[in-house]
Amino acid sequence: MSESNLAINGGTKAIRGFEAEPMHWGMKAGLEEFLALADTFGYSQEAQEKMRAILATEEGTIDPKFTRYYNPRPSRVAMFEERARQIFGVGYALGVNSGTSALMAAYVAAGVGPGTEVIVPAYTFYATAAAVVAAKGIPVIAEIDESLTIDPEDVEHKITPRTKAIVPVHMVGVSANMEAIMDIARKHGLMVIEDNAQSCGGKFHGRYLGTIGDLGCFSLSSYKVVGAGEAGLVLTNDEWLYTRATSQHDTAACWRPDRFAKERRPGELFCGENYRMSELEGAVNYVQLGRMEEQAKRYNRTMRQVVAGLEGRARDILRRSNDLEGDLGYNIILIASNKDTAGQMAAALVAEGLQAGARGSRGSRDWHIYSYWEQILERKTATAEGCPFTCPYYKAPLPPYSADMCPRAADLFDRAVHIPVNQYWTPGDCEQVADAINKVCGVYA
Ligand SMILES: Cc1ncc(COP(=O)(O)O)c(C=O)c1O
Repeated sequence: MSESNLAINGGTKAIRGFEAEPMHWGMKAGLEEFLALADTFGYSQEAQEKMRAILATEEGTIDPKFTRYYNPRPSRVAMFEERARQIFGVGYALGVNSGTSALMAAYVAAGVGPGTEVIVPAYTFYATAAAVVAAKGIPVIAEIDESLTIDPEDVEHKITPRTKAIVPVHMVGVSANMEAIMDIARKHGLMVIEDNAQSCGGKFHGRYLGTIGDLGCFSLSSYKVVGAGEAGLVLTNDEWLYTRATSQHDTAACWRPDRFAKERRPGELFCGENYRMSELEGAVNYVQLGRMEEQAKRYNRTMRQVVAGLEGRARDILRRSNDLEGDLGYNIILIASNKDTAGQMAAALVAEGLQAGARGSRGSRDWHIYSYWEQILERKTATAEGCPFTCPYYKAPLPPYSADMCPRAADLFDRAVHIPVNQYWTPGDCEQVADAINKVCGVYA
């Protein structure tokens, strides 16, 4: 075969044409995938059949894309991020695939790594602390106070020359004392990374939680007040922190203005991971975020109506709030005099017709209290070398990890009685709920 026979040189083309239809993305996903989604939402078979009949008329013409890139339609993730920026009033918002990923991206962005320490509360979901270790930092576990959030006084005691960041966690609808935390952080030149997985929509002195520190992290999973599925969000006003968070959340650095460009500044490009949010999560959480403000107002109003009806002992043992006006308030928490009483109170409240629980009083394992975090307490790591606990860059004895290192947190956890609030309770409902709590507290407390 001579070179002149090549089509590129004017010869006859080897491919005369295909018998098959040209491929298009619409052939990849279509009606069946859409109906699988409808089934996941729980729509009845009857409704699905109706949808099938209607949508089948457009089969073959649709072209769904579940990824942000190379998508002819406006990216739902980009829309979600823009909505987050607008609602929270911040410069930068990054959608990710979970709250844990949000924390990882934020920790790495902030410079958490070998030789650094991060102060986390003893009462939080384990991911807050685990992500520090995953980012190769050392978690330093601090006490909580009667608000069930990190105790600023203990934070100050735990600062060392290695401390990189403080992580206040706004637990179960109540903000940490952000004024005190920010003061301490600024005094010592530390980053503040808010873990707002549990209080999306809550405020502290008029400012949205997650927007006060250097970075704010959210989980938007189905288990949270805002969120559906598995998703997360990072907020910041700092362009460089945002840039680094994007690099960690997408190691191929797709989000930069120019994907394949060399780094614009040392520290922009490094080996990260992939926490990209899918378009499905972007679409659903765009809607969820749109409901956030009204929902937060409703929860807060309802919770405060119940609280206003509490009297005597019930009022005395109410969990302390750092800003009742701003609390998300999806749980009312009472702190019983001891663990057994907490269990009895929860049972009595249930008998009165409320939902109530005292997780600590049951004594069962729970990832929300540090004493069960044996991965950290016993320095369990994925490989035998034990990094980062054995890291030579960490030039100090490790924190004295033990199951009784934060006795106040363990005690408060054991004594806490949770009463979930229904955001739609009417004033009459709130009165009944307050009466029920007063009645039970009159006997137990
Ligand atoms: C305080 C806190 N931080 C982080 C997370 C982790 O979020 P995700 O489950 O979305 O990874 C959670 C989730 O329960 C949480 O409650």
